[in-house]
Amino acid sequence: MEEFGGKVVLITGASSGIGAETALEFASSGASLALVGRDEERLEKSAQDCLAKGLSKEKVLTIKADMCIEDDVKRIMDSTITHFGKLDVLVNNAGLAKLDFLKSDEIMQNFDELLKINVRSAVQLTNLAVPHLIASKGCVVNMSSFAGKRVSSMSLSYNITRAANDQFTRCCALDLASKGVRVNAVNPGAIETPLLTGFGVPVDQIEEVMGKLHPMGRVGQSSEVAKAIKFLASDAASFITGETLSIDGGRHVACARKQCPHSSASAFRKGEEENRRIRR
Ligand SMILES: NC(=O)c1ccc[n+]([C@@H]2O[C@H](COP(=O)([O-])OP(=O)(O)OC[C@H]3O[C@@H](n4cnc5c(N)ncnc54)[C@H](OP(=O)(O)O)[C@@H]3O)[C@@H](O)[C@H]2O)c1
Repeated sequence: MEEFGGKVVLITGASSGIGAETALEFASSGASLALVGRDEERLEKSAQDCLAKGLSKEKVLTIKADMCIEDDVKRIMDSTITHFGKLDVLVNNAGLAKLDFLKSDEIMQNFDELLKINVRSAVQLTNLAVPHLIASKGCVVNMSSFAGKRVSSMSLSYNITRAANDQFTRCCALDLASKGVRVNAVNPGAIETPLLTGFGVPVDQIEEVMGKLHPMGRVGQSSEVAKAIKFLASDAASFITGETLSIDGGRHVACARKQCPHSSASAFRKGEEENRRIRR
């Protein structure tokens, strides 16, 4: 029997990067999928890729929604339950990263924006999911980051939101353990996705700059995170809850001086500034 056959998995941020790869992982294991994203075209592509894994059409539901809009988040849960009648796994993956530091011009705007998408939206959706997860004895996997455990250079707002994701994970795990619902998080290092390349630094330089920050000498791939998410959602993790699992090539155990050279972060900040200039 397929590992996730008969299970319903809801994944936010499923239109790109880690979320899209996670959808494929669960599709390969026979899960029914509710896939959430803002970009309709990318979301549809993700759904088609899942169907290509052999899922029947009714097993893949796409929901175009902005996680920063409360009514959209409510609609996500309503549509999932209306379509599938239950929920077994919630993957709170949608999120953003931005660069800032004290006294930078954009800090308060970034802080509000990142808090809303990385933390508030996950809290709202999880809260709505709780009765369904209790009914199914299901589980939650939250997206966090290396930056939840250690300080990532020039990423003040982002670091704070990821630390909040870790604490949220522990709070939920404690609240829901006696109800048979497990809650864990993944804490990736730098993973090669559109989020990372979106800073405007060429891919070969990303590998050069970011790879060095990870003791294993490279950045990670979406599939490496997706597999860990599926593991945490599986019966193989049946006694694991409240865990924040590093998937970062050892970055969280490395010496702080090694992992935070300002020069590395500067390359990304320059890329981000250039992106902003082009957009204006
Ligand atoms: N890549 C890394 O190095 C890394 C490391 C640690 C943690 N993470 C986290 O992993 C998660 C996935 O990131 P990724 O690297 O796969 O980046 P990505 O390819 O840019 O994917 C981000 C996903 O989040 C969705 N999203 C963003 N804002 C949203 C909103 N307001 N409403 C609904 N969906 C929204 C995007 O949807 P649209 O396509 O519709 O915009 C997209 O599907 C993020 O939370 C990120 O912070 C990434």
